[in-house]
Amino acid sequence: MFGDSRRTVVVVGAQWGDEGKGKLVDVLAERAAWVVRYQGGANAGHTVDIAGSKFVLHQIPSGILHPGVRCAIGNGVVLDPDTLFHEIDGLVKDGVDVEGRLYVSERAHLVLPYHKLVDSESTASKAIGTTGRGIGPAYEDKVARRGVRVLDIRSTKRLRQLVEQGVDHANAQLARFGSKKRVNADETVNLLASLAPRLLPLAEDVGLVIHRAIKSGAAVLLEGAQGSLLDVDHGTYPYVTSSNTTAGGAATGAGIAPQAIDAVLGVVKAYTTRVGAGPLPTEMDEKLADETRKLGAEFGATTGRPRRCGWFDAVVVRYAARVNGLTDLAVTKLDVLDTFDKIALCSGYDSDGEAYTEFPADLTVLERAKPLYEWMPGWKKSTADARRIEDLPDAARRYLDRMQAMVETPITYVSVGTRRDQIIGL
Ligand code: IMP
Ligand code: MG
Repeated sequence: MFGDSRRTVVVVGAQWGDEGKGKLVDVLAERAAWVVRYQGGANAGHTVDIAGSKFVLHQIPSGILHPGVRCAIGNGVVLDPDTLFHEIDGLVKDGVDVEGRLYVSERAHLVLPYHKLVDSESTASKAIGTTGRGIGPAYEDKVARRGVRVLDIRSTKRLRQLVEQGVDHANAQLARFGSKKRVNADETVNLLASLAPRLLPLAEDVGLVIHRAIKSGAAVLLEGAQGSLLDVDHGTYPYVTSSNTTAGGAATGAGIAPQAIDAVLGVVKAYTTRVGAGPLPTEMDEKLADETRKLGAEFGATTGRPRRCGWFDAVVVRYAARVNGLTDLAVTKLDVLDTFDKIALCSGYDSDGEAYTEFPADLTVLERAKPLYEWMPGWKKSTADARRIEDLPDAARRYLDRMQAMVETPITYVSVGTRRDQIIGL
């Protein structure tokens, strides 16, 4: 992905999240000076498998696993300071050196205990099937201009005022939900006071730092969380997360100019998964979904929930290619399909007798959408040891060729297993 004319690269999920962005970021970080997270928060779960040990990262960019790479959490992220330090401590215990390599935007908003409580007590959050990490409520406070930012911790007086305002609002919401639980400002202020000595030294003007890195010619990787179909504007609203997961969010969420972005890599699974409620037009029947879930270990990295499974939906990914401006595609988990007799690709939908080849915005159309499939023969052979495209069985190559044609984006990487080395770079 990186080259002389490609210095700033965005990695996004081009489905509903869990496409394997963590692995791609880990592979690409080898050549990056900086890795920046630009949206989302501890709702994300990026799993990276190195020599048999699995790291699940929720907030810290996956680049942290490469010594020498500097990592930043951008202004577009909602940061849970409590879990941030658990994550740092866990990495240090596993021998990863974090000291002096991790920066946090002073403009990033904080996810506070009352956001998590509101998320878990809200019936609206339950209906969407949120991760319960307080993401929606924290972004709500940000947009409503009552959020608490990292830099606010510098002044105890200002911090208390802002927290009291947030707590009042949270308690009013809890009362409205019919919940008996209440929060008080003291516990949040005390928590932040105890974390301040560790958090404030990490606080930086991340946009400025990254701007300077780009100007100096450094390779910068912008790491998205969740997937394009969970984007608050472009996803299956209201069954979405509360941030812009797509490439435009990379500019606003890292604090850099859109023109600074040279390339956008979209990561997709060779099939489709989704956690939480909302439309999934290519969802498999229970038996096949069960089999795929077992083969692909499709359980949420953050919540442990079983993921819903479906066939590859080219309508979805072509849409994601358009809204993100994808220059490249990475296809992950091809090996999960190794034992299937036949494999489907969705080329369009029929909804109430009308044909759709472009992804519709209207949820009622999507909910009634019947996928139109192209069936291809399976390859019935292990792909786990393939390291070059020539190593793949013909049927697997034909499947990828067809996918590439339907999505109108060149495939640059194919991943055939969870380990770092199980990847084909084209
Ligand atoms: P929230 O982001 O916790 O508010 O959840 C909103 C929706 O996004 C729910 O359907 C979640 O399951 C989904 N979601 C949030 N984060 C992820 C992720 O990292 N992977 C997959 N789905 C996610
Ligand atoms: Mg995930």
